[in-house]
Amino acid sequence: MSSIALDDAAIVADGLRKTYTGPPGEIPAVQGVDLQVERGEFFGLLGPNGAGKSTTIGMLTTLVRPTAGRARVCGIDVASDPVGVKRRIGMVAQRDTLDVELTVEENLEFRGRYFGMGRRAARHRAGQLLEFFSLGERRRARPFELSGGQSKRVVIGRALMHRPDVLFLDEPTAALDPQTRINLWDLLRGLQAEGQTILLTTHHMEEAESLCDRVAVIDHGTLLACDTVKSLQASAGAESVVTVTYEGGPLAVEELAGRPGVARVESAAGQVRVFAHEPEGVLGRLVALAHSAGATVTDITHLRPSLETVFLALTGREYRE
Ligand SMILES: Nc1ncnc2c1ncn2[C@@H]1O[C@H](COP(=O)(O)OP(=O)(O)OP(=O)(O)O)[C@@H](O)[C@H]1O
Ligand SMILES: [Mg+2]
Repeated sequence: MSSIALDDAAIVADGLRKTYTGPPGEIPAVQGVDLQVERGEFFGLLGPNGAGKSTTIGMLTTLVRPTAGRARVCGIDVASDPVGVKRRIGMVAQRDTLDVELTVEENLEFRGRYFGMGRRAARHRAGQLLEFFSLGERRRARPFELSGGQSKRVVIGRALMHRPDVLFLDEPTAALDPQTRINLWDLLRGLQAEGQTILLTTHHMEEAESLCDRVAVIDHGTLLACDTVKSLQASAGAESVVTVTYEGGPLAVEELAGRPGVARVESAAGQVRVFAHEPEGVLGRLVALAHSAGATVTDITHLRPSLETVFLALTGREYRE
């Protein structure tokens, strides 16, 4: 029996760790990540800049050598058989570029040939993918003639040429405008519907929320949580978060903590943040408290339960791009 049959998960990481060395010293980029992604799953690795997303994906795709820990992709160990892993995966790196000497279709066909496909098979597969990504009319174009969204689609198509079991996408929509991003989401959903396992990194919470079956939240090289978006919301951040920023004060916010439906109140200089299951009335009460304290409210935000409030609950920090 092959090792693949024994190891049914698409991705297994066990204590994965990467410490970069060199000036200015040691950087613990990934500090012991455990995760498992099932076949057919759409999995999101979500975290802010510098969280360790690309380093994690780099280790899973054999481009970065782990300092410690193990990982298997399709049952194949990334350290002992990197070539075997590469055959089974498609990778779209954060700064992936097309070969500028080649046309769109040549970029795809050459990738197929590289993976041992015959000329006709590569041409046929390239045609199918260009059709799927609505690039049929651009197939003779050179990369510099493409829009950002088009070239991203070509790069993803190229990564799919050899029918990889697992597709890795490192921030595929980072530089795209909102409409183009949503179009790409539809295409990625279409791939998953055909059975493609996908691991995507993003710092867009909305993206993870909209696409992913499960999400791992990573910050400072550590996984803070890993679950379905729904369960994450139910556990860590089922609350709405009301934040009021003010000048003057201070506000007598103690009474809010005892209010029914309020989970937690955090108060810092010039800012009060209320985590509430039932946020109705909280805002009005905060404004009234500011008024009695003679303070001026300068900003109000009300986040409904989402991955953003989960992140806030997990890290205590607001999630900004
Ligand atoms: N080749 C490298 N050599 C040294 N340090 C690195 C290297 N690559 C990444 N780092 C550092 O490791 C940490 C994690 O970086 P990584 O690129 O994995 O984060 P990320 O989550 O992908 O961030 P981003 O959203 O900005 O792409 C950062 O502190 C980064 O500066
Ligand atoms: Mg990155």
